[in-house]
Amino acid sequence: MRNPKAKIVSARTLTDQTTLHLVFLFFFLSQLASGLKSPYSPTINITLNCGFIGRTSSRDNRMWLGDINSNFGPFEHQSNPSVNSTADKQPIEVDLIPYYTARLSYSEFTYIFSVTPGQLFIRLYFLPFSYKNFDRYKAFFSVKAGSYTLLSNFSAALTADALGLEGFSREFCVNIAEHARFLNITFTPSPGNPDAYAFVNGIELVSMPPNLYYTPENSTADEILLRRVQFIGKATPYRVEKSHALETVYRINVGGRFISSTDDTGMYRSWSGDDVAYLTSSETGVEPVNMTVHLDFDAIPKYTAPEDVYTTARTMGTNETINKSYNLTWEFSVDAGFNYLVRLHFCEFQLEITKEKDRVFYIFIADRIAENQADVISWSGGNGIPIYRDYAVLMLSKENEKKLNLSVALQANPDRWNTRYADAILNGLEIFKISDSIDNLAGPNPDRPVPTPTIVAIPLPIQPRKLKINHTKIIGIVVGLFSGIVVLCVLGFFIFQRGRRVEDAKSSRTNLPSDLCRCFSLSEIKAATNNFDKLFIIGVGGFGDVYKGYIDGGETWVLDKGLMSSRPRLRCSPSSATSILSL
Ligand SMILES: *[C@@H]1O[C@H](CO)[C@@H](O)[C@H](O)[C@H]1NC(C)=O
Ligand SMILES: *[C@@H]1O[C@H](CO)[C@@H](O)[C@H](O)[C@H]1NC(C)=O
Ligand SMILES: *[C@@H]1O[C@H](CO)[C@@H](O)[C@H](O)[C@H]1NC(C)=O
Ligand SMILES: *[C@@H]1O[C@H](CO)[C@@H](O)[C@H](O)[C@H]1NC(C)=O
Ligand SMILES: *[C@@H]1O[C@H](CO)[C@@H](O)[C@H](O)[C@H]1NC(C)=O
Ligand SMILES: *[C@@H]1O[C@H](CO)[C@@H](O)[C@H](O)[C@H]1NC(C)=O
Ligand SMILES: *[C@@H]1O[C@H](CO)[C@@H](O)[C@H](O)[C@H]1NC(C)=O
Ligand SMILES: *[C@@H]1O[C@H](CO)[C@@H](O)[C@H](O)[C@H]1NC(C)=O
Ligand SMILES: *[C@@H]1O[C@H](CO)[C@@H](O)[C@H](O)[C@H]1NC(C)=O
Ligand SMILES: *[C@@H]1O[C@H](CO)[C@@H](O)[C@H](O)[C@H]1NC(C)=O
Repeated sequence: MRNPKAKIVSARTLTDQTTLHLVFLFFFLSQLASGLKSPYSPTINITLNCGFIGRTSSRDNRMWLGDINSNFGPFEHQSNPSVNSTADKQPIEVDLIPYYTARLSYSEFTYIFSVTPGQLFIRLYFLPFSYKNFDRYKAFFSVKAGSYTLLSNFSAALTADALGLEGFSREFCVNIAEHARFLNITFTPSPGNPDAYAFVNGIELVSMPPNLYYTPENSTADEILLRRVQFIGKATPYRVEKSHALETVYRINVGGRFISSTDDTGMYRSWSGDDVAYLTSSETGVEPVNMTVHLDFDAIPKYTAPEDVYTTARTMGTNETINKSYNLTWEFSVDAGFNYLVRLHFCEFQLEITKEKDRVFYIFIADRIAENQADVISWSGGNGIPIYRDYAVLMLSKENEKKLNLSVALQANPDRWNTRYADAILNGLEIFKISDSIDNLAGPNPDRPVPTPTIVAIPLPIQPRKLKINHTKIIGIVVGLFSGIVVLCVLGFFIFQRGRRVEDAKSSRTNLPSDLCRCFSLSEIKAATNNFDKLFIIGVGGFGDVYKGYIDGGETWVLDKGLMSSRPRLRCSPSSATSILSL
C-alpha cells in the first residue's frame, strides 16, 4: 500500500526524517553496546530515586524508580512525616537523576528492600544543597543497613565541601545472611540536636558475585594463594568475614582513565582515573598501555575488574639512574582506627616481561614490607593474565589524628641477580574500610573549611607525559569534541536568546556574568587539554569523554560533552575554585 502523498516531502519533514534516522542510529548503537554481555549479571539491581514519583532514566540510561508510592517505603512515624523536595537549584556537576530530588525528615525513616542471601553493594547518593526550609549545614544523621552503622552524625555538606564537589555517592558492601529476606536501611537525625534532619537523594542496591571481596569459607587449592589476605605486620592472614561490612574508599584505574559505572563488569562500580594527586614520590614514573593485548582470565574471574584496568599501568620509567633512586609511592587519606582491605591489581602486558624473574620488586604498605619478591608473572602464570593480591592493614593513630595516610610504595629490586628489569608495576587499586567490632563503619566529619571570600583558580601542575594514543582514537576524539563544541555554541546561542525572553528572577543562575560563559576554539581546547591527552579525562558524559582543561594560563575548566542528556543545557558557573562549563 503506497500513499502517493508520501512522495511530497517538504524540507521540514526531511529534517524530521534525518533526526529520526539519527535517533534510530543512536538507539541501534546503544542496543549494540548494551548487547555486549557483561561478565556479571546482578540478581538484585534496584535504583531508587528518593523524593520522586514515577520512573525516569538517568544520563547513563539506567532506569530509576521514584520512592513516592513505591513498595520500598519510606516507613516512618505518621506524627512527623518526611517530605519530598527538589534542591533549591539544579546541580550542574552531577546528573539530575537521582540527585535533584530528595527525601528529608526531622524524624527517623526506613526503606525496606526484599533481598536474597549473598553479598551486595549499597550506594547512597547525596546532593547537600539547601532544600525548601532545610539548611544544608543542619543535616546531621546516621544511616544503618541491617545491623551495620554505615554513617553516623554524618554531614553531607561538610563532606562535599571537603571534596570540592556538589554531590557524591558512598558505596558499601554487606552480606545478607542465609535466613534474611529483607534489608532495612534507616535514616536517623542525630539525637540531641533539635535542628538536625536526615536526607537522601538516591539508593542503589546491586548484588555481587559470591566472595568477590569476602574471604571464601573453604578455599580450593587454587584459591589458597590468591585469596590469602596478608595482614601487614601480623603473622597470620586476615579474613574478611561475612559478619563484616565494607566501605569502598578508593577504586583507581592506575595509569588509566575513569571507567564509568556502566562500563564496569556488571556491578556498576566506577573506577577513578589515575590521579597524580595521590602520588607523593618525587618521580611519578610512566604509564605504559597496551590496547591490543589479549587478556586471558585464567587466574581470576572476568568480572573482577574491567579489562581497561589491566591494559594500563604505572611503572617506574626507563631511566636507569632515576628508576633506582625512588619508591613509586601513593598516599591515601583514611579514617584512623579501622582495618583496611587493600587490593592491588596487576597484569604484565609489556613485550619484555614474559617470564618469572623478569620484573621482581618490593611492595610496602603503610611503610611496612608486604612483598619482597613481587613477581606478577609467577603469580598469574604469564603475560596478559590479570591477577590481584589482597592485603589488610590496621591504621591506628599515634597522636589522636582523625585522618591518617595509608601509603602504597613500590620499590625496584636493587639486586640485578634477582630480576632482569629493575622496575615495578601497578595496574589498579581498591581500598575498603572494614567495619569494627561494633559493626560500625562511620568516621568523623571533615572540619568546616574556612570560607574564602573570592574564587581563585588553582592551577594544577601539568606533567609532561609519554603516552601512546592511537591515531583513530585521536581523530575520533577531535571529531567528537569538535562536533560537541559546534552543537554547544549553537545551543548556547539558542538558550541565550531564549533566556533573554524568559524572565525568571527566582533562579540564581540566570543572571550569570557573561564572561563566565565561553565558547572555545578547537585550538584553544587542544592547547588546554595537551592535545586531548587522556590524562585530562576526568569522567565520561553521555556523549563521550569529559576533559578538564587549563585556559588562560592555569584556570581550570571542565569540558563536558553530555549531549545525550534528556535535558541538554548550557551552563557555566564558578564552583569551588573551578569554573565549570557543562552542557
Ligand atoms: C539494572 O537495572 C537498571 C534499572 O532498572 C537497568 O537499566 C539495567 O539494565 C539493569 N541491569 C542489569 C544487568 O540487569
Ligand atoms: C512531592 O511530590 C509530589 C508528587 O510528585 C509533588 O506533587 C509535590 O510537589 C512534591 N513536593 C515538593 C515539596 O516538591
Ligand atoms: C524493618 O523496619 C520495619 C519498620 O521500621 C520494622 O517493622 C522491621 O521489624 C524491620 N526489620 C528488621 C529486620 O529490622
Ligand atoms: C566448609 O568445609 C567444612 C568442613 O569441610 C564444611 O563443614 C562446611 O560446610 C564447608 N562450608 C562451605 C560453605 O562449603
Ligand atoms: C601488546 O601485547 C601484544 C600481545 O602480548 C603484543 O604483541 C604487542 O607487541 C604489545 N604491544 C606493546 C606496545 O607492548
Ligand atoms: C637519566 O636521568 C639522569 C638524571 O636526571 C640524567 O642525568 C641522564 O641523562 C638520564 N639518562 C638518560 C639515558 O636519559
Ligand atoms: C623505599 O621504601 C622503603 C620502606 O619505606 C625504604 O626502606 C627504602 O629505603 C625506600 N627506597 C628508596 C629508594 O627510597
Ligand atoms: C598525608 O599526606 C598529605 C600529602 O602528602 C600531607 O599533606 C598530610 O599532612 C598527610 N597527613 C598525615 C596525617 O600525615
Ligand atoms: C628501568 O625501567 C625500565 C622499564 O620501565 C627498564 O627497561 C630498565 O631496565 C630499568 N632500569 C634498570 C636499571 O633495570
Ligand atoms: C556531629 O558533627 C558535628 C560536626 O562535625 C559536631 O560539631 C558535633 O559535635 C557532632 N555531634 C555528635 C553528637 O557527635
